[in-house]
Amino acid sequence: MTASLLTAEVGATQLEICVADITTLEVGAIVNAANRTLLGGGGVDGAIHRAAGPELLAECRTLGGCDTGSAKITRGYRLKAKHVIHAVGPVWGGGGKGEDDLLASCYRTALALAAAQGLSSIAFPAISTGIYRFPPERAARIAVGSVAAEVAHAPRGLTRVVFCCFSPDAAEHHTRAFTELGLA
Ligand code: APR
Repeated sequence: MTASLLTAEVGATQLEICVADITTLEVGAIVNAANRTLLGGGGVDGAIHRAAGPELLAECRTLGGCDTGSAKITRGYRLKAKHVIHAVGPVWGGGGKGEDDLLASCYRTALALAAAQGLSSIAFPAISTGIYRFPPERAARIAVGSVAAEVAHAPRGLTRVVFCCFSPDAAEHHTRAFTELGLA
């Protein structure tokens, strides 16, 4: 099991930061940083589809795509995670096109889908901070802030939320966000 670099309690939910390949995590759902077609891509999208196998794409083909800021849930197939929640983050366009709100909406929608599925744990990659070029420090503050706010007032059975970073730098951005929000 991947060691957590930092954990914090928000109500009944434990928030964690780790550095890992998200496809290795054994949680109720891992979140994919997908595009609007939901038909796969590079980055974490590519890694998740490779690890889940072809049945994931077959199920994604039935979903009819997904709007930016929203998310859809599928099974996890060959992954250790039971489900994949495909969230479509915003492409960074300078910050004046509602990017912050769209990114926050990805996190909120993914939490709601996990809760509706009755899951107790979920892991997020740093949505939009790769190919979509969202500034990683700003994205980490939005990720931690939106998740902490959501689980504080409606945990809905979610006892574990993992921010699965792919580099120590990304973990540092999330750790700083925990500190800025008084979580650590
Ligand atoms: N596990 C965890 N995190 C990962 C992994 C992995 N295996 N692979 C990449 N990441 C991290 C990246 O380092 C980055 O911090 O996921 C974050 C998101 O980066 P991208 O995967 O590039 O996603 P995003 O920036 O949201 O761009 C989405 O990229 O792959 C395409 O189809 C996808 O068009 C969509 C776009």
